Amino acid sequence: MRYNWIDGKEYTMNCILLLDRWVLRWIFQDCPHYDGDYLADMAKALYCYPHVYEFACQKAPECSAFLGRVRQVPFAGWSEEEMRSAETSILQFHETFVVYAYPQVMEGVNYIRNWDPKYLHELVDLKDRVVLDVGAGTGRLAFAAAKVAKRVYASEPCDQLREYMRDRIKAEGLSNMKVLDGEVLSLPFEDDTFDAVLSGHVVGDFYEEEIREITRITKNGGWLVICNGDDEFRRESPDEELTSRGFSWFSHETVEGGVVYNYRKQIKK
Ligand SMILES: C[S@@+](CC[C@H](N)C(=O)[O-])C[C@H]1O[C@@H](n2cnc3c(N)ncnc32)[C@H](O)[C@@H]1O
Repeated sequence: MRYNWIDGKEYTMNCILLLDRWVLRWIFQDCPHYDGDYLADMAKALYCYPHVYEFACQKAPECSAFLGRVRQVPFAGWSEEEMRSAETSILQFHETFVVYAYPQVMEGVNYIRNWDPKYLHELVDLKDRVVLDVGAGTGRLAFAAAKVAKRVYASEPCDQLREYMRDRIKAEGLSNMKVLDGEVLSLPFEDDTFDAVLSGHVVGDFYEEEIREITRITKNGGWLVICNGDDEFRRESPDEELTSRGFSWFSHETVEGGVVYNYRKQIKK
């Protein structure tokens, strides 16, 4: 699905220099859903960026095999326009990753731009609680939680986004919020640590394993909260993967039309 969160024409392959190793792994592999010849377009796109090629091979050696195949694509006298068009097409295809390099751009994306913190506070009482926001991004949920919670941890696997949140914490003089690295399938916390674990647009690739991990670090009686914002999917019903795992759901109309479903589940151990 194309989100149009960015216009690929406004970016260059240099943005890859701002991305983390786990994102490079997504970009520098075969992409069967790409509309075109991914390997050929990657060769054209990278032709003028040998430093990006070197960077990716060093930062993510596991991508070297794919990148080696890219290098072997013979130069066929591509025009500047052809190379630029391939570059734009690759960046547009990976727009959801490109925004991780530009937190201010991410802040302007619909699910953050159109969101109201009241939707989080209606779902769960975070007053004086110890809270984790998993895959916090620019901190949409974490900063809202920090207004009332005792302490908020924002775990985020992208360095650019971690630094963005740290700058905002400093600018706002917050003393109850900390930012750290973390991946939803292996979170760096002991069992039974949190009163509430929040997430927005993170759980969904591996429901069983992800929910098991966030349940592990949640206290008995604590809450798992999935608080989404507007997106391009025009959903007509709540996510069965969540409701069948004991989540109750709440919905509201989105600013741009459609329905957003949010979820919560109280943990009993
Ligand atoms: C669509 S953004 C949502 C950001 C934020 N949660 C929000 O709702 O505003 C997805 C976020 O999840 C992070 N992410 C992606 N894969 C992840 C994973 N496996 N574990 C934890 N976070 C992940 C991304 O770095 C990104 O910040």
